[in-house]
Amino acid sequence: MLKLNINKKIYELDIDPDTPLLWALRDVIGLVGTKYGCGVAQCGACVVHLNGEAVRSCVTKVSRAAGQQVVTIEGLSENNDHPLQKAWLELDVSQCGYCQAGQIMSAAVLLRENKNPTDKDIDNAMEGNICRCGTYLRIHKAIHLAAEMQRKGSK
Ligand code: FES
Ligand code: FES
Repeated sequence: MLKLNINKKIYELDIDPDTPLLWALRDVIGLVGTKYGCGVAQCGACVVHLNGEAVRSCVTKVSRAAGQQVVTIEGLSENNDHPLQKAWLELDVSQCGYCQAGQIMSAAVLLRENKNPTDKDIDNAMEGNICRCGTYLRIHKAIHLAAEMQRKGSK
Protein backbone atom coordinates (compact mmCIF):
# COMPACT_ATOMS: atom_id res chain seq x y z
CA MET A 1 0.00 0.00 0.00
CA LEU A 2 1.31 3.45 -0.87
CA LYS A 3 0.02 6.45 1.01
CA LEU A 4 -0.24 9.54 -1.15
CA ASN A 5 -1.12 13.09 -0.20
CA ILE A 6 -2.69 14.63 -3.26
CA ASN A 7 -4.28 18.05 -3.11
CA LYS A 8 -4.25 17.73 0.69
CA LYS A 9 -6.27 14.52 0.60
CA ILE A 10 -4.84 11.15 1.62
CA TYR A 11 -5.15 8.17 -0.73
CA GLU A 12 -4.01 4.63 -0.01
CA LEU A 13 -3.24 2.82 -3.22
CA ASP A 14 -2.54 -0.83 -3.83
CA ILE A 15 -0.27 -0.18 -6.79
CA ASP A 16 3.07 -1.23 -8.25
CA PRO A 17 5.57 1.31 -6.83
CA ASP A 18 7.16 1.68 -10.28
CA THR A 19 3.92 2.90 -11.85
CA PRO A 20 4.26 6.43 -13.20
CA LEU A 21 2.57 8.97 -10.93
CA LEU A 22 0.56 10.16 -13.93
CA TRP A 23 -1.11 6.76 -14.23
CA ALA A 24 -1.99 6.78 -10.54
CA LEU A 25 -3.46 10.26 -10.81
CA ARG A 26 -5.52 9.69 -13.93
CA ASP A 27 -6.39 6.00 -14.01
CA VAL A 28 -6.54 5.08 -10.34
CA ILE A 29 -7.64 8.26 -8.58
CA GLY A 30 -9.53 9.87 -11.45
CA LEU A 31 -7.81 13.25 -11.42
CA VAL A 32 -7.76 13.69 -15.18
CA GLY A 33 -6.79 17.37 -15.35
CA THR A 34 -3.16 16.29 -15.70
CA LYS A 35 -2.60 15.13 -19.26
CA TYR A 36 -0.57 12.44 -20.98
CA GLY A 37 1.29 13.92 -23.93
CA CYS A 38 4.55 12.18 -24.77
CA GLY A 39 5.24 9.92 -21.80
CA VAL A 40 8.99 10.63 -22.01
CA ALA A 41 9.46 13.98 -20.23
CA GLN A 42 9.48 15.99 -23.46
CA CYS A 43 6.22 17.95 -23.60
CA GLY A 44 5.25 19.14 -20.11
CA ALA A 45 1.57 18.18 -20.39
CA CYS A 46 1.86 16.09 -17.22
CA VAL A 47 3.50 18.64 -14.90
CA VAL A 48 2.36 18.52 -11.26
CA HIS A 49 3.96 19.85 -8.09
CA LEU A 50 5.89 17.54 -5.82
CA ASN A 51 6.75 19.36 -2.60
CA GLY A 52 6.36 22.62 -4.50
CA GLU A 53 8.61 21.68 -7.41
CA ALA A 54 7.39 21.15 -10.95
CA VAL A 55 7.85 17.50 -11.91
CA ARG A 56 6.84 15.47 -14.94
CA SER A 57 4.47 12.89 -13.59
CA CYS A 58 4.88 10.61 -16.65
CA VAL A 59 8.44 9.78 -15.58
CA THR A 60 8.04 10.08 -11.81
CA LYS A 61 7.49 6.77 -10.07
CA VAL A 62 4.51 6.80 -7.76
CA SER A 63 6.77 5.50 -4.99
CA ARG A 64 8.69 8.80 -5.13
CA ALA A 65 5.50 10.67 -4.28
CA ALA A 66 4.61 8.48 -1.30
CA GLY A 67 4.45 10.54 1.87
CA GLN A 68 5.15 13.75 -0.08
CA GLN A 69 2.89 16.64 -1.04
CA VAL A 70 1.49 16.33 -4.54
CA VAL A 71 -0.57 19.11 -6.09
CA THR A 72 -2.35 18.76 -9.42
CA ILE A 73 -4.22 21.38 -11.41
CA GLU A 74 -7.38 20.41 -9.49
CA GLY A 75 -5.69 21.43 -6.24
CA LEU A 76 -3.88 24.55 -7.36
CA SER A 77 -6.50 26.82 -5.80
CA GLU A 78 -9.64 26.43 -3.72
CA ASN A 79 -12.05 27.91 -6.23
CA ASN A 80 -10.10 28.03 -9.48
CA ASP A 81 -9.06 31.51 -8.37
CA HIS A 82 -5.29 31.34 -8.60
CA PRO A 83 -4.10 34.51 -10.40
CA LEU A 84 -2.90 32.33 -13.27
CA GLN A 85 -6.31 30.72 -13.65
CA LYS A 86 -7.97 34.15 -13.62
CA ALA A 87 -5.47 35.57 -16.12
CA TRP A 88 -5.88 32.50 -18.36
CA LEU A 89 -9.61 33.09 -18.51
CA GLU A 90 -9.33 36.83 -18.96
CA LEU A 91 -6.98 36.48 -21.93
CA ASP A 92 -8.66 33.36 -23.31
CA VAL A 93 -5.31 31.60 -23.49
CA SER A 94 -6.38 28.05 -24.26
CA GLN A 95 -6.98 26.77 -27.74
CA CYS A 96 -7.55 23.00 -27.64
CA GLY A 97 -6.54 23.15 -23.97
CA TYR A 98 -4.60 19.93 -23.91
CA CYS A 99 -1.29 21.38 -22.74
CA GLN A 100 -2.71 24.08 -20.51
CA ALA A 101 -2.81 22.36 -17.11
CA GLY A 102 0.89 21.60 -17.47
CA GLN A 103 1.58 25.16 -18.59
CA ILE A 104 -0.24 26.61 -15.58
CA MET A 105 1.48 24.26 -13.12
CA SER A 106 4.92 25.24 -14.49
CA ALA A 107 4.00 28.92 -14.40
CA ALA A 108 2.76 28.61 -10.82
CA VAL A 109 6.22 27.54 -9.65
CA LEU A 110 7.75 30.47 -11.53
CA LEU A 111 5.37 32.99 -9.94
CA ARG A 112 5.93 31.63 -6.48
CA GLU A 113 9.66 32.13 -6.84
CA ASN A 114 9.68 35.28 -8.97
CA LYS A 115 7.02 37.93 -8.37
CA ASN A 116 7.96 40.02 -11.39
CA PRO A 117 9.31 37.77 -14.14
CA THR A 118 10.78 39.20 -17.33
CA ASP A 119 10.06 37.71 -20.75
CA LYS A 120 13.37 35.90 -20.49
CA ASP A 121 12.47 34.48 -17.07
CA ILE A 122 9.20 33.25 -18.54
CA ASP A 123 10.98 31.71 -21.53
CA ASN A 124 13.37 29.89 -19.23
CA ALA A 125 10.67 28.61 -16.90
CA MET A 126 8.32 27.53 -19.66
CA GLU A 127 10.71 26.16 -22.27
CA GLY A 128 9.86 22.54 -21.47
CA ASN A 129 6.13 23.05 -21.99
CA ILE A 130 5.11 22.50 -25.57
CA CYS A 131 1.85 23.75 -27.08
CA ARG A 132 0.94 22.24 -30.42
CA CYS A 133 -1.63 25.00 -30.92
CA GLY A 134 0.99 27.72 -30.52
CA THR A 135 -0.57 29.70 -27.68
CA TYR A 136 2.82 30.90 -26.47
CA LEU A 137 2.16 34.62 -26.92
CA ARG A 138 -1.03 34.49 -24.88
CA ILE A 139 0.69 32.36 -22.23
CA HIS A 140 3.37 35.05 -21.92
CA LYS A 141 0.79 37.80 -21.57
CA ALA A 142 -1.21 35.79 -19.05
CA ILE A 143 1.82 35.12 -16.87
CA HIS A 144 2.61 38.85 -16.83
CA LEU A 145 -1.02 39.62 -15.98
CA ALA A 146 -1.10 37.00 -13.23
CA ALA A 147 2.13 38.36 -11.78
CA GLU A 148 0.55 41.82 -11.73
CA MET A 149 -2.61 40.47 -10.06
CA GLN A 150 -0.47 38.67 -7.52
CA ARG A 151 1.57 41.80 -6.73
CA LYS A 152 -1.56 43.92 -6.36
CA GLY A 153 -3.19 41.26 -4.21
CA SER A 154 -0.25 41.06 -1.88
CA LYS A 155 -0.07 44.82 -1.22
S1 FES B 1 3.57 13.45 -20.88
FE1 FES B 1 5.06 13.91 -19.39
S2 FES B 1 6.37 15.31 -20.35
FE2 FES B 1 5.03 14.68 -21.93
S1 FES C 1 -3.71 24.70 -26.40
FE1 FES C 1 -3.64 22.99 -27.71
S2 FES C 1 -1.80 22.05 -27.20
FE2 FES C 1 -1.71 23.90 -26.16
